[in-house]
Amino acid sequence: MILEAKMAASCCTNGSVSTRSGDFLLTVRFVEEGENPMILGNPIARGNTAKIYLSDNKIVKIFNDFLPDTESIKEANKQSYAYSCGLPVPKILEVTKINGEQAIIMEYVKGETLGDLMFKNKEQAEYYMNVSVDMQLKVHSIIPEGIESMYDKLYSQIETVNNLDKKQKSYMLNKLGSFSYENRLCHGDFHLFNLIKTETQVVVIDWVDSSAGDIRADIYRTYLLYSQFSSELADMYLRLYCEKSGLLRSEVSQWAPIIAGARLSESVSSENSERLMEIINNYCPII
Ligand SMILES: Nc1ncnc2c1ncn2[C@@H]1O[C@H](COP(=O)(O)OP(=O)(O)O)[C@@H](O)[C@H]1O
Ligand SMILES: [Mg+2]
Repeated sequence: MILEAKMAASCCTNGSVSTRSGDFLLTVRFVEEGENPMILGNPIARGNTAKIYLSDNKIVKIFNDFLPDTESIKEANKQSYAYSCGLPVPKILEVTKINGEQAIIMEYVKGETLGDLMFKNKEQAEYYMNVSVDMQLKVHSIIPEGIESMYDKLYSQIETVNNLDKKQKSYMLNKLGSFSYENRLCHGDFHLFNLIKTETQVVVIDWVDSSAGDIRADIYRTYLLYSQFSSELADMYLRLYCEKSGLLRSEVSQWAPIIAGARLSESVSSENSERLMEIINNYCPII
């Protein structure tokens, strides 16, 4: 699918092509520079990889130009897949280029993130965390078809980390292959700031890291993300997930060195990478 889109992009600079990915038909519109009538104004949010605009009651996500030119298609496909599973996810409306930058146009979800709500009402932290865990359980109940394998994703992430000892790397890659589990849909970046509360429901955004894999790895990943800024929040999260699912903390933490190792491949601060190295050294010391 990605190759198809790339080929289409190289053979036509204007007009429209449709590409099929699994069951999804994505229309990719190629717009000449200066031709797009869309007025974006100021972004409503800025992330590591994209700027988010609200235009004509739709969300326009414009990707930073250092990303591979398949990034928008990759994210749109994953999000469309989650949408097709019946999960509350913004519908992808278009994958396009705006002023030469890759962009996704999707449904606007009116509301606030559970993260923002929690910071406004700290005494309600456990309530918001409960809501988020219920949603993650829903995502994890889905047996996925045709989306990226978590194993492949983690394997290539760990392989690309430079500052890991050779022995540690091979320990992690071996351990990664040693788990047995049933593939489930994993969001890959599940936390309170990727959940928007509307008047009627909670919607899950930001599907670019989703994959088919072991829910315990996905749970550890969420735990690790929280623990970077609050161990209290991280513990609350893990306690609630374990209570609701019957999983044990020890089953989840088996994934610790692998998920910490894979996170080193992302651009994390030096303070965070020290913490990640501590986790890794704890499980597989350099001898
Ligand atoms: N469909 C949407 N509806 C409303 N707000 C959105 C939507 N998608 C993204 N946002 C806003 O933009 C922010 C960043 O979007 P996100 O997809 O999470 O990108 P990032 O990868 O930068 O975290 C979100 O926290 C949310 O505030
Ligand atoms: Mg996000």
